[in-house]
Amino acid sequence: MTHAIYPSLADRPVFITGGGSGIGAAMVAAFAANHARVAFVDIDTAASEALVADLHAARHAPLFLRCDLTDIAALRAAIAAAAARIGDIGVLVNNAANDERHDVDAVTPEYWDRAMAVNLRHQFFAAQAVHPQMRARGGGAIINFSSIAWMVGGGRMIAYTTAKAAVMGLTRSLAREFGPDNIRVNAIAPGAVITPRQLRLWLSDGDVANFVARQCIGRRLLAEDIARAALFLAADDSAMVTKQCLIVDGGLR
Ligand SMILES: NC(=O)c1ccc[n+]([C@@H]2O[C@H](COP(=O)([O-])OP(=O)(O)OC[C@H]3O[C@@H](n4cnc5c(N)ncnc54)[C@H](O)[C@@H]3O)[C@@H](O)[C@H]2O)c1
Repeated sequence: MTHAIYPSLADRPVFITGGGSGIGAAMVAAFAANHARVAFVDIDTAASEALVADLHAARHAPLFLRCDLTDIAALRAAIAAAAARIGDIGVLVNNAANDERHDVDAVTPEYWDRAMAVNLRHQFFAAQAVHPQMRARGGGAIINFSSIAWMVGGGRMIAYTTAKAAVMGLTRSLAREFGPDNIRVNAIAPGAVITPRQLRLWLSDGDVANFVARQCIGRRLLAEDIARAALFLAADDSAMVTKQCLIVDGGLR
C-alpha cells in the first residue's frame, strides 16, 4: 500500500497528547513523516524518549514534554512551552486516555472523577488553550479521540464509555464555537486497535481473532490506520469537514 503525504502539513505546528505509545506514537511518526513540527506530551518518559530517538532523522525531530494532563495547569504550561518552541499550534490531537476496566459496584466518586480527568477534561482545556493560537494563525484543526466502545455499549468500562460519549458533545459544540475562527473540530472513533498495550492487558489471541472475524475488512486494525485518518482531518484537504465523527473500525460496529 502507498499513502498520501499532505503538503499542507509541512512545517505546521502539531500538538499531540499521549504521543509516547500506541495510537499516539503512530500519529507522532505520521505527522513527522509529513514534515510537521510535532510536540507531544506523555507521562511515559522512557517510551517517549525512545520514540524521539527513532524519529531523529525527520525534517523536524519531535519535541517531547513530560506532562500529566490530569493537571490542567501543567497541560496549559506544556502547550505554552510547545508553542514557544515550534510556533502557534495549528493542529491539536486530543488522544490521551486510559481505558482501565472496572465493575460498576467498585466505582467511587473519586474513581469517577479520576476517569473523567484522564479521559475527558483535558480535551476541553487543551482546546481552550490552543484557541487563541489557532485564531492568530487564521484557522486550525482539532481532533478529539472518542471510541466505538460507547456506541456498542462496552462492558466493564462505564466511566470510560461515558467520557468517550461526552467527547462527541464536546466536539460538536466546539465546532460551533470555533467555526467562526476557521477552526475545524472533529472526532475519531477507533474500533479494536491492536496495540502492544491492548495485547498486554486486555486482549487474548482469541479476542483478536474474534474482532477480525466481526469486521467487514478481515485484518487487524492497526494504530497506523488511525494515524492516517488523523492526517486527513488535520490537513487542508478536509477544509469543509467539521463537527463530524470518523469511525475507523474496519466495519466492526
Ligand atoms: N486501542 C484501541 O483499541 C482504542 C479503541 C478505541 C479508542 N481508542 C482511543 O484512542 C486513543 C489512544 O488509544 P491507545 O490504545 O493508543 O492508548 P494507550 O493507552 O496505548 O496510549 C495512551 C497514551 O496516553 C498516555 N497517558 C495516559 N495517561 C496520561 C496522563 N495522565 N498524562 C499524559 N499522558 C497520559 C499513555 O502513557 C500512553 O502513551 C485513546 O483516546 C483511546 O481511548 C483506542
